[in-house]
Amino acid sequence: MSVSYDAVIEQSRKYLELIAKEELTKEEKERVVRETVDGFRNNINPGFLEYRKSVSTDYTAIEWTDSGTDFIDIYGKKFIDCLGGYGIYNVGHRHPKVLTAVMNQLKRQALHSQELLDPLRAMLAKLVEMITPGDLQYCFFTNSGTESVEGAMKLARLHTGRSGFIAAIGGFHGKSMGSLSATSKAVFRKPFLPLLPYFRHVPYGDADVLEKQLASAAFSGEDVAAVILEPILGEGGVIIPPDDYFPRIREICDRYGVVLIADEVQTGMGRTGKMFGLEHYGIVPDILCLGKAFGGGVMPIGAFVSTSEIWEKMTPNPFLHTSTFGGNPVCCAAAIAAINVILEERLPEQAAEKGNYFIPKLVDLMHKYKNICVEARGRGLLIGMEFVSNEVGYQVAKGLFEHGVLVAGTLINAKVIRIEPPLTITKAELDRVLETLGRVLDTVSEQFS
Ligand SMILES: Cc1ncc(COP(=O)(O)O)c(C=O)c1O
Repeated sequence: MSVSYDAVIEQSRKYLELIAKEELTKEEKERVVRETVDGFRNNINPGFLEYRKSVSTDYTAIEWTDSGTDFIDIYGKKFIDCLGGYGIYNVGHRHPKVLTAVMNQLKRQALHSQELLDPLRAMLAKLVEMITPGDLQYCFFTNSGTESVEGAMKLARLHTGRSGFIAAIGGFHGKSMGSLSATSKAVFRKPFLPLLPYFRHVPYGDADVLEKQLASAAFSGEDVAAVILEPILGEGGVIIPPDDYFPRIREICDRYGVVLIADEVQTGMGRTGKMFGLEHYGIVPDILCLGKAFGGGVMPIGAFVSTSEIWEKMTPNPFLHTSTFGGNPVCCAAAIAAINVILEERLPEQAAEKGNYFIPKLVDLMHKYKNICVEARGRGLLIGMEFVSNEVGYQVAKGLFEHGVLVAGTLINAKVIRIEPPLTITKAELDRVLETLGRVLDTVSEQFS
């Protein structure tokens, strides 16, 4: 469609006015709703409207503002955010300290020259070295989780000179070509095959199978560069491995000279009750991937982090892996503030305490509805509720949405609804979630009886 540039200028001016407004009139709100739905139908993907209708009945709930633990739609309806943007909002929505850091940085400089040395990148890398376990030291900043995984995989190949990878059935690592090779679900992968060669998926939580796979790869000469795993399967349905799984994986990787990549894009930054998920098992990965909450719920930034030994081959040619926007000053400012808030407000400890408070109550509640519930499980505030079918899961999500609690299914296992709120959520809010859930389960249980 080609229209006059004058029309584009006029349209964009109206949008800028809306963005600048503190209060919208009723007519303006209605216009935003109409234009948003039209825009999704005509310019983004009408499939989103169908999906939204199926899970939340009311796709005219247009998000407009957020703060603390809540999303607020354009008409002022509040939702307790138990989805947390799939794990973005560990420090809450628009934490004042993160906003201030970003705005202060914006007053001085937004993006970097690409040529001079940019100081905030160095500052953030120093903090990352200080918070990560073991001798993880060097950092490459990305713009998303999938990019962190891509970089980690390239680094593993560079370091080992090998090409194979092993990931887990149920694992989710992103949807760009390399990370999608690691992601396990057929519906996301099949249309794009062939993906990276020498990729195998093994059952999660079974170290024996992984060892056999490594032995077989070594025997056949298809040597493995890296094993990539999440400390807890997030999108795979909040699956927690046996306690001895990761210590054994660490030992097996060492024995086969294989790099262990921990994908902490979802489990990192305090979500599970420790700063990083693998700290529960007392082991250190060779490469650690970050994303989501790393940007403090305000800016998009990820990272992959490794040891000086593994970084060695990147050193002579720092342009081997680059990103124009990766590590830009505004995103680094947000991540620096996020680290400060997470530690100062003891958010990992808070996640552990609140998880210990909430999960047993959730387990008890789900027990009462045996015809629709399988179980509840979780660690810290990464929590899953498993139902007997996807349909039941959808109905529960829909019911909660109608009552002002935002949740969603996990991407690889739709029977599991995630509860992944900001780590700042209060116990009173958690009680409200439980009370609302009780009412919704009453209705859905009756519906499916
Ligand atoms: C464990 C894990 N890795 C990687 C990704 C991909 O992150 P992004 O969507 O930012 O590319 C996700 C996203 O859900 C994830 O949960």
